[in-house]
Amino acid sequence: MAAGTTAPPPGAAADWSIPQDWSAYTPEQHALWDALYARQVEMLPSRVTPAFMKGLETLRLSRSGIPDFEELSERLQKLTGWSVVAVPGLVPDGVFFEHMANRRFVAGSFIRTPEQMDYLQEPDVFHDVFGHVPLLADPVFADYMQAYGLGGLKAMKHDAIHQLSRLYWYTVEFGLIRENDDLRLYGAGIVSSRSESVFALDDASPNRIGFDMKRVMRTRYRIDDFQQTYFVIDSFDDLLKQTLDTDFAPIYAELADQDELTPADVLLTDRVHTRGTQAWAQNRSA
Ligand code: PHE
Ligand code: FE
Repeated sequence: MAAGTTAPPPGAAADWSIPQDWSAYTPEQHALWDALYARQVEMLPSRVTPAFMKGLETLRLSRSGIPDFEELSERLQKLTGWSVVAVPGLVPDGVFFEHMANRRFVAGSFIRTPEQMDYLQEPDVFHDVFGHVPLLADPVFADYMQAYGLGGLKAMKHDAIHQLSRLYWYTVEFGLIRENDDLRLYGAGIVSSRSESVFALDDASPNRIGFDMKRVMRTRYRIDDFQQTYFVIDSFDDLLKQTLDTDFAPIYAELADQDELTPADVLLTDRVHTRGTQAWAQNRSA
């Protein structure tokens, strides 16, 4: 994800990239990756889209330790032309989109502390690599991510980053997908979190609503807690087709006159999989 505009920090290149400095990770840091990895892989096979498990395997992410971006990029490049570039943390929107438009995924190279096993606000190497990279090995999802980068550069000119970011949030970060008659996870923010991997599929609290592009772009999201609504796509093909075939410029103009929706709103026009109780959010704010 992206932050406001400033110059690259000292030590970073003009495109904000830094050397990963793989040999500087300590044995404790590699062991923390392994612990996070083991925890997720234990519960994900029955919950995540099979394409994610396939990506873990073809990219050999199951090997012990924090992945070396150079090696990982070599494998990924052969599969879909993507590579992984280290950055110090959040980067400005334009930098983020420019990398994605060129099939470069920017990843934080730092790893969380043991105290942050369950939650941290800034994306670290576990979220960025374990959460995002496996699906970059899927050809259709890989195309969607590049299209999103190009779409971001265009949205900047239309002053519509806000609207487009919601699409990223509710697909790439927190998306669910229908597999046969089951719902499965694919969003990186969910699959890199033990508690949300359970909550997003099993809890009675959140709404689960069929994906609708314009509807999603009107919907605010929360960055400080589990989502109150998850949107469900039918397939990566369908997601790519809908977003690629539509010119967002007129949609941005149209959305400018419409009210935003709150994270919990359910509309009469929604295709509702689950109508949530919102008990989780209500207990939190009580
Ligand atoms: N079609 C979008 C546009 O016109 C670009 C886009 C593609 C955005 C895929 C997101 C995902 O801006
Ligand atoms: Fe992310």
